[in-house]
Formats: sequence, structure tokens, C-alpha cells
Amino acid sequence: MHTLPIGVFDSGLGGLTVAREIMRALPEESVVYFGDTARCPYGPRQPHEVREFVLQIGSWLARQPVKLIVIACNTATAAGLALAQQVFDVPVVGVVEPGARAAVKATINRKVGVIGTVGTVDSGVYSAAVRLLDAGATVFSVATPRFVDVVEQGLRMGPGTLEDWLSESSDVFIRPSFYEMARDYLDPLKRNGIDTLVLGCTHFPLLSAAIQQVVGANVRLISSAEETAREVAATLEARDQLASDEGRFERYVTTGDVDEFARLGGRVLRRRTTDVAQVSLSELEALLDGRLREALRAFDAGESACD
Ligand code: DGL
Repeated sequence: MHTLPIGVFDSGLGGLTVAREIMRALPEESVVYFGDTARCPYGPRQPHEVREFVLQIGSWLARQPVKLIVIACNTATAAGLALAQQVFDVPVVGVVEPGARAAVKATINRKVGVIGTVGTVDSGVYSAAVRLLDAGATVFSVATPRFVDVVEQGLRMGPGTLEDWLSESSDVFIRPSFYEMARDYLDPLKRNGIDTLVLGCTHFPLLSAAIQQVVGANVRLISSAEETAREVAATLEARDQLASDEGRFERYVTTGDVDEFARLGGRVLRRRTTDVAQVSLSELEALLDGRLREALRAFDAGESACD
């Protein structure tokens, strides 16, 4: 079991910010990364549809097999983590709880801001996760879907390391229009006096220099990547499943274009990604068998009973 890879997935490339942290923290571990680029973004989709995707990709990873699954996407974690933990035989780790934990550790005035996709913010998962850890904390959340577009466009433009290119020093893309949009999103959070801001979308660490400039140096930015990597390490250690580096490998899978994934993924990882393969959407859809459909139906019924 310990030689099996860790499966990591996201709606696209943003989850590579989590994968690179896992690979940095656990260099002996093999990783299979699945980017559902053909169906990105997940942020504006209904939770039911995102849950279907979580079950499809989780099943695909489970069949590799993998020893642990990381949902490296806040939107997918918000919609599907609890269901995935019910249906898969391996541990499933999401990115929301680790991000909330890091924020609660960091905040001094207990006013925490969260930015994410519409799906993540509407779900309220961050407020719930922060309050579970500190009932006295106040959470202010804002959906910032256009930040996802900025990263997606930024990835497709210009050569070089993405952070450099999207950083405050870049004259090319991060221009007054970005700062204007960022101020519109972030000023209300600043007015609420937050001292900590959770980057509740795996795309956003790639914008952290620019976001930091807008919120000011007094606000601590939290990316859940490091804390997620720690949780993965702790889970594997507790199960006595940590790998030695024997036969270590990395594999990348996309539902989109293989060459584009290799090129853009390399910019996030800051090195070449060679082993990239494509999985078709019809192959994924076929994995949603009767058992999973029934689990999904029961989960959805439970959710609507809670509304
Ligand atoms: N990576 C996704 C997340 O963390 C954002 C991109 C999307 O909308 O698919 O929520």
C-alpha cells in the first residue's frame, strides 16, 4: 500500500498549487494529478453537478489505485468532500478544513476574510469550518470569480514562471483594471477589519502578490496548500503508509488538451511536466455506476432536507 501514489484532483490547473506543496513536503511520494480542464470552471456550477464530477474523478483515481485522494479544489471540496468520504475506501482529504485551521491559527483579532468561487462562498463551508474551530471568530466571505479568469488568462499569456508574470512587478497583465476589480472585491473585507484572508480557491495563490498589495501588509494571506500537505502527511503516517522514494513517479491526467496542460502545468509547477495523458469525459461518465448514483441521490435528499 505505501508504494501507491497519492491522487490529487482539481477542476483544472489551480490544484497544482496544492500538488506542488505535497510533493515539496513529501518528496518520496508518487502523485497522480487529475485536472478536469475540459469542464473548468466548477465555481458557477450547481453543487449536484460538481458532486457528480467528484464521484467520477474519485472513482477514476481509486481504480489506479491510489492510497489517498486529495480534492485540491475548494468548490469540489465544498460540494463533494463529505460524499466522497462516504463512498471511497481510501481516505479523502479536502482543502477547506486545512485552510480554516491555518486561518484560525493566524488571526489575532478573530476577523477572517474568505475569497473563493460562487460555489464555495454560497456553500458557507468556510464560515462553518472556522466557527467549529473558534466559535467566537467572525468570517466575512466574498465571491471573486473574476480572479479565476485572471489566472486562467494569465496562464495562457506570456512565457516564464506564472507568479513572476502575475506579480505586482508585471506591467503586462496586472494593470490598473485588475487592481480596480480587486479593490471592488476586497475593500469591503478591509472595512470589516479582517487581519487574515483565506485564499479559498486553489487558483488564488498564483495571485497572492497582487492580492497582498491590495489588502495591505497587515493582512495575513492564507493558502490551504501547506496545511493540506501537512494533513496528507499526518494521515499517511497514522496509517503507516508513508512511502520510501523507491520507484517514485508523477503522472498527470487531463480531460482537456494534453500539450496545453503540459505547457501551462509546467508554469505552475515551475518545471516541465512530461508524463501527461488524456481521459475522455465519456470514460469518466461511465464510472458513475448504480451504487454511486444511489449514494448521490441519498446525499442530495439529505442536503435538501437540511435546507
Ligand atoms: N480550483 C477551483 C477552486 O479551488 C476554482 C476554479 C473553478 O471554478 O473551477 O475552487
